[in-house]
Amino acid sequence: MTSKFETHELDVLIIGAGGAGLRAAIEALAQGVRVGVVCKSLLGKAHTVMAEGGLAAAMANVDKADDWRTHFRDTMRGGKFVNNWRMAQLHAQEAPDRVRELEQWGALFDRTENGDILQRAFGGHTYKRLCHVGDRTGLEMIRTLQDRGVAMGFDVYMECTITRLIKDGDRISGAFGYWRESGRFVVFKAKAVVIATGGIGKSWKITSNSWECTGDGMALAYEAGAELMDMEFVQFHPTGMVWPPGVQGLLVTEAVRGEGGILRNKNGERFMEKYDPKRMELSTRDVVARSIYTEVREGRGTPHGGAFLDISHQPAEYVKRKLPSMYHQFKELADVDITKGPMEVGPTCHYMMGGIRVDAETGQSSVPGLFAAGEAAAGLHGANRLGGNSLSDLVVFGRRAGLAAGQYAAKAAHGSVNNAEIDDAERSMLAAFERPQGEDPYQIHRDLQDVMHNLVGIFRNEEDLKRALVELEKLKERAQRMHVDGSRMYNPGWHLSRDLQCMLTVSEACTHAALARKESRGAHSRLDFPKTEDAWGKKNHVIVKKGTAMAVFEVPVRELPDDLKQILAEEK
Ligand code: FUM
Repeated sequence: MTSKFETHELDVLIIGAGGAGLRAAIEALAQGVRVGVVCKSLLGKAHTVMAEGGLAAAMANVDKADDWRTHFRDTMRGGKFVNNWRMAQLHAQEAPDRVRELEQWGALFDRTENGDILQRAFGGHTYKRLCHVGDRTGLEMIRTLQDRGVAMGFDVYMECTITRLIKDGDRISGAFGYWRESGRFVVFKAKAVVIATGGIGKSWKITSNSWECTGDGMALAYEAGAELMDMEFVQFHPTGMVWPPGVQGLLVTEAVRGEGGILRNKNGERFMEKYDPKRMELSTRDVVARSIYTEVREGRGTPHGGAFLDISHQPAEYVKRKLPSMYHQFKELADVDITKGPMEVGPTCHYMMGGIRVDAETGQSSVPGLFAAGEAAAGLHGANRLGGNSLSDLVVFGRRAGLAAGQYAAKAAHGSVNNAEIDDAERSMLAAFERPQGEDPYQIHRDLQDVMHNLVGIFRNEEDLKRALVELEKLKERAQRMHVDGSRMYNPGWHLSRDLQCMLTVSEACTHAALARKESRGAHSRLDFPKTEDAWGKKNHVIVKKGTAMAVFEVPVRELPDDLKQILAEEK
């Protein structure tokens, strides 16, 4: 069927141009199919650039004893054993090859004295494991993948938002969206779609995430019938900026602690001695975030409500070389010289461990032709992600999803794109213009952020979560009455009105899953159920759309094979 809108025909459509999307595109292209990458922002501006401190891979360049087994064990332990063990295994085994490949494609990693890729310490990793480029690792990764992909010849559709996945019966047949600049609508016909849209941090008031992180891919997949999993596990990075207010939440890389940074409270006490005397500042993120939060709540916080993070005991030249972005960030934004004194830091919403439920080998979701990778997909990280496992996740599973989508598309015919569905997608995008008056999307967004910050934050309890669900219902009703002024030409209020629908869906999924898990595990801390319970370690939560409602059910965590059980039992 022909569409009244501008239409592009592709074999594989990748939604998202971060590390996972670009790596998927490269691999899909290598299967000899036509690939298009669509992104909300400009190519090269993906949120991946904010993963600063490094990419975890057991290269054993610095600590010779490291190997994939130890990386696998660290990842499972960090994730409190509700991870998809097969993903954790593939990730640990394949990450070193993906790093070598990035190097061959032009990434310039920092080096050891004998010329190997240098690796630094990060929380929860037994060995120095993070391959890095100062504190700009994500940026170097995006630059490298983008150069490679553009040279190979994928089509790029920038500043374009996808608002709906189109299906032919059960299977994916394309996507509908609009150009952010002109507001014109566009249809992509595709045999396979890979979702690589990242996370949902913008639902929370204090976040390290940039404007694109509104849960789009998770919501699109959910609306198309795919399953979401592990949505209760939201990571708060322990160290975001707390001052000045305009940059609150901006990431202060874990590399500061990896390079020896020390946390203290207002009394000068090195409080991690109390919470994790063995690993101290390099404990897992869930533990460090809760520790800082507790110090502040109990009255030992800094003047702006955080903790002091000090790296000034290291030589100034070393700090500037290893942490150049942090040096400039604090100098320019907070007038603090981190070579001379401490930074003020506090927890910031950083990463969603949950996402689209996928097959470990292929990234295939439960919807035929729909694949997902990176932060939009669930499984690898379980209840808590280790720092640095995100960049490696992107390249390991981006490659796998791109490969599987390319192979699938090479064999499949195009499905049909139903005009009635396109018309409906258009109508729902235009509705906010047609109401003469109504709710302001910016106000609804602020109210959503308050609800998620206050009621679905680092510490949770039943009463708050139930209240959050009631408040989310009210916000959903208000969102039905949103009104936007002006035209469709670059209209940020209109963009937000659409992003809000995704944020509301994904926030509701988080809240339902958090209410259902009656224990504390990893990043999910219930004040009313403070213990980690064996029985809960045997199940994941899955969320699907049933009619217009959200259904939550439990699925068993797959039993590990004996050889992997053995690895987990070993102590290092
Ligand atoms: O702290 C950081 O540099 C963030 C890295 C990550 O989230 O993996």
